[in-house]
Amino acid sequence: MKSISIGKLKLKNPMMVASGTFGYGVEFKDLVDLNKLGAVVTKTITLEPREGNPKTRIFEVQYGMINSIGLQNVGLEKFVKEKLPELKKTTKTPVIVSIGGKKKQEFIKIVEILNYEEIDGLELNLSCPNIMGGKIISQDKKETYNLVSAVRKKTKFTLITKLSPLVTDITEIAKASEDGGADAVSLINSFPAVFYRSPLTAYRLPIFGGLSGSCIKHIALRMVYLVTQSVKIPVIGMGGIMNTKDALEFFKAGAKAIAVGCANFVNPNTAIEIIEDLKKWK
Ligand SMILES: Cc1cc2nc3c(=O)[nH]c(=O)nc-3n(C[C@H](O)[C@H](O)[C@H](O)COP(=O)(O)O)c2cc1C
Repeated sequence: MKSISIGKLKLKNPMMVASGTFGYGVEFKDLVDLNKLGAVVTKTITLEPREGNPKTRIFEVQYGMINSIGLQNVGLEKFVKEKLPELKKTTKTPVIVSIGGKKKQEFIKIVEILNYEEIDGLELNLSCPNIMGGKIISQDKKETYNLVSAVRKKTKFTLITKLSPLVTDITEIAKASEDGGADAVSLINSFPAVFYRSPLTAYRLPIFGGLSGSCIKHIALRMVYLVTQSVKIPVIGMGGIMNTKDALEFFKAGAKAIAVGCANFVNPNTAIEIIEDLKKWK
């Protein structure tokens, strides 16, 4: 499997683990040989710690899952003091830190602090579907451009924007990211969806969450294909990659790199197994 570059970042292979499905990376050190991955993408970090949405927050559905985690995370300070140094001690694999916030200023503050840290890239999560009342920045091309260009001015790290599939034309948003100075776009985040625990019990309220897994793969493939035809920057493809065949489909659609998401909940070694398999295809 060949090495690739995304911006200034060199990856020994094009396989990543998708944000939010692999914790802060370090939790998996006894289960997965982290050194074999192309990159680890962390859970999205926000300026302040977040408790996330009330439990239960993960539901298995046909051919996928719905999560309503709500960006639970330890916050930037604890991430920088504890999680990041632990991860860097564990592996030499590049670490891409996913960051999120409600306003441009929050993103900028996070970036100004991470600029002093030993990280390898930043992924701007402009697409979280699970913050009640929060809006999805990557649904608006102007807001996407403004945010990406503001962050670009503040950092030299490889900059990736993570896009929402819930848009009329994803190519416009990808173009806005490219024009703003992003080195790559990653897509897709999960689809906003609703889960009913049981139509017959007292739990009557809908649970809003993000749908991911095999059921979104063919929609993701279409979006990856369309975006690769519209921008020059690389596309990191994800959405329902469960095995080597799925991975090959994303490469066929034009993705330069790919990420395994909720398959990590079934088998945290999915990405590594795909890497080993793809070596045979060289
Ligand atoms: C439990 C869970 C948590 C997630 N958390 C994040 C997150 O914090 N930041 C983010 O950008 N994407 C997050 N995602 C979205 C994934 O990174 C990925 O884009 C999406 O799930 C599609 O890939 P998949 O179908 O392979 O899971 C999360 C997905 C799941 C299933």
